[in-house]
Amino acid sequence: MSLLRDRLAARIVPSDGAFRTRMLGIAAGIDDLIALGRGDPDFHTPSHIVDAAKAALDANRHHYTGPTGIQPLREAIAADLTARYGLDYGPDEIVVTAGAQEGIMLAMLGLCSPGDEVLITSPRFTSYDSAVELCGGTPVPVPTFESDDFALDVAEIEKRITPKTRMFVLVSPNNPTGAVTPPDAIRAIAELATRHDLIVVADEIYGQLIYPPNEHLSIATLPGMRERTVTLNGFSKSYAMTGWRVGYLAAPRDLVAMLTEPRHTLSINTSTISQHAALAALTGPQEPFEAMFAAYAERRAWLMPALTEAGFTYGHPGGAFYIYTNVSPTGLAAPEFCERLLRETGVMLFPGTMFGDESTDYIRISYLQPLPLIQEAMGRIATFVASNAARVGS
Ligand SMILES: Cc1ncc(COP(=O)(O)O)c(C=O)c1O
Repeated sequence: MSLLRDRLAARIVPSDGAFRTRMLGIAAGIDDLIALGRGDPDFHTPSHIVDAAKAALDANRHHYTGPTGIQPLREAIAADLTARYGLDYGPDEIVVTAGAQEGIMLAMLGLCSPGDEVLITSPRFTSYDSAVELCGGTPVPVPTFESDDFALDVAEIEKRITPKTRMFVLVSPNNPTGAVTPPDAIRAIAELATRHDLIVVADEIYGQLIYPPNEHLSIATLPGMRERTVTLNGFSKSYAMTGWRVGYLAAPRDLVAMLTEPRHTLSINTSTISQHAALAALTGPQEPFEAMFAAYAERRAWLMPALTEAGFTYGHPGGAFYIYTNVSPTGLAAPEFCERLLRETGVMLFPGTMFGDESTDYIRISYLQPLPLIQEAMGRIATFVASNAARVGS
């Protein structure tokens, strides 16, 4: 062991990235790969957003901004949150971050103390675990189940509350399940949070991607919740801007004032060019967003019955661009299913175990390829399942 590895800070816990690395290694050697693994839109960023970035470069916007972001962007975010979700934040209650990801870290740096327990909607986006652990806290998954369409059950939250519970991370729509927590459940969670004096971190990064009749309710709009909620959101998913790294944290202004210094410490500011691009995303035409959303809706509408026809079940995905699918009827555990499917057919999917799921029954399908490729992938999956059944049966 090297001297530096030997001196590794205790806060860095070992993580096993071996499976992901192996999958990516296999994928690299496949010519006709169909990648339905990552949560990264297949669309490019709409051209008017790209043009705004070019204009920012031409206008010599090459310098630092304030740590919380440029004022016009903070104003546009505050206005958008009001118009879209009925949230009530002023521009001085917004911190522009390098993706929602930095917002997660900033929220935990600000609110999670050593020894705190943090409840997290699960299966889950496991960066929450890392952020909580880096702050000395303990992530406590709150399971959701296919039988409930992976919707949160307030009783599952309540039975995990201890005197150390400090916070509940509400991710709706959720990654990897696409589950939308219905408004009534959000109200019950708000009541629970108030009764147990919990902070809520509401991750609404998929909030624009809700398929009717499902409904999104921002918990911070409910009576008494603004003061105990940090709302996280960003541009990656809605505007196909994953590489630009723009997100934001919204919270009462006295907390935001205290987070300004740690935010400065993390990366001073979000890329200035990207902030101008994000401003154009909010203030420019919304048709490109609508077109991408319509494509996701079309893919989802095709994929759900196709999966059923192929003998799979799944939790109803009310939002995002994922379908969390049960592969247990194949007799293969999800990691093995994904690895063999990739090797034998060139279709890449990720197992639920990569999202903290203790069950090995599930895979996440990201429908982030054009519909004809998704259809081709389903054909390959059906062939794989049939040949596996024949192998098992023989
Ligand atoms: C639930 C959730 N929150 C946050 C993020 C991070 O997004 P960003 O690209 O804005 O950092 C992701 C990305 O997949 C996510 O799924």
